Amino acid sequence: MRALVLSGGAGTRLRPITHTSAKQLVPVANKPVLFYGLEAIADAGIREVGIVVGVDQAAEEVKEAVGDGSRFGLDVTFIPQDAPRGLAHAVLISRDYLGDEDFVMYLGDNFIVGGITPLVDEFRATRPDAQILLQHVPNPSAFGVVELDENGRVVGLEEKPKQPKSDLALVGVYMFTPVIHQAVRKIEPSWRGELEITHAIQWLVDQGYDVRSTVISGYWKDTGNVEDMLEVNRSVLERLEPKIDGSVDDTSEIIGRVVVEEGAEIVGSRIVGPVIIGANTRVVDSYIGPFTSVQHDCQIIDSEIEFSIVLHNSSIQGVRRIEASLIGHQVQVTPAPKVPKAHRLVLGDHSRIQISS
Ligand code: DAU
Repeated sequence: MRALVLSGGAGTRLRPITHTSAKQLVPVANKPVLFYGLEAIADAGIREVGIVVGVDQAAEEVKEAVGDGSRFGLDVTFIPQDAPRGLAHAVLISRDYLGDEDFVMYLGDNFIVGGITPLVDEFRATRPDAQILLQHVPNPSAFGVVELDENGRVVGLEEKPKQPKSDLALVGVYMFTPVIHQAVRKIEPSWRGELEITHAIQWLVDQGYDVRSTVISGYWKDTGNVEDMLEVNRSVLERLEPKIDGSVDDTSEIIGRVVVEEGAEIVGSRIVGPVIIGANTRVVDSYIGPFTSVQHDCQIIDSEIEFSIVLHNSSIQGVRRIEASLIGHQVQVTPAPKVPKAHRLVLGDHSRIQISS
């Protein structure tokens, strides 16, 4: 059995971070969201993994971060997709790589706590034509939505319907036998111009193939937008094992579950966990509050921040208080001069900023 991980796409909902970076590399507790998926695949006993990437700067970043996959115990092959033409298109272009093997398709921006091993084991044992995972959600219109009959059989699938027929969302992990290759050839692009995997699965249902579904109840999130990203970060930090490898001076206070990675320096600061401070980051005269991840090589000086994610090589100086924020890499946040009272901004395209004045 192989895995197909989808790590292309445009990531429009995470702009401006995703103008230049891959959304699948945004860190959760200082580890790219994509890596959690790769680890789950390795844990399920799968070795051969195809990763669909775009043909842009973000793709290069993904390739560099994942390498040949050996650090995850995987043998990774990258499959370039010329443009985000849909999840079914990703399957279409992976035909040669997948051959006639069964495979798990894993959306690289999905986060599932507890991995996928029992689900993959069940699929291997029962081997229906396709197996999908579902979860009850309060906002089904944001997802692929599945309608089941009274016996729990899949009858209909719709992509992001305005009027959803159920509250069961498609989770971004699918298990397929090679019959899916026929299905992705039969469908037409949707109104948004994409070859939808929901249409391909609907084709299987209509042709009488055995499409089974499992409703999962554990923690699952699509990390497509900032709010969900912060929420996933919060949930992972809740289980953080405290570890201080960097230095903490006598005038600093560390409370609760806090990780200070090697080479990081905490001076005159108060850190209330769960918090992770990345390697070689300096925190001076600052407060870092719960559910905050700061990546490596950052500077947080004379500032306050909580419930936020800060990417590497950024600096925050003299600012209080930042919360519920996602700060990209190589960003500088500083206070404006007191007089005149004005904001001076250099913001990338599609930035979002809330200013209290
Ligand atoms: O998260 C679950 C949802 O994922 C499902 O409920 C939906 O049915 C499914 O269509 C999908 O919806 P999204 O709108 O969240 O898909 P997104 O465009 O974010 O793409 C998911 C992943 O696949 C993401 O890592 C980017 C990658 N991708 C996407 C497209 C469209 C590709 O690699 N190539 C593509 O062409």
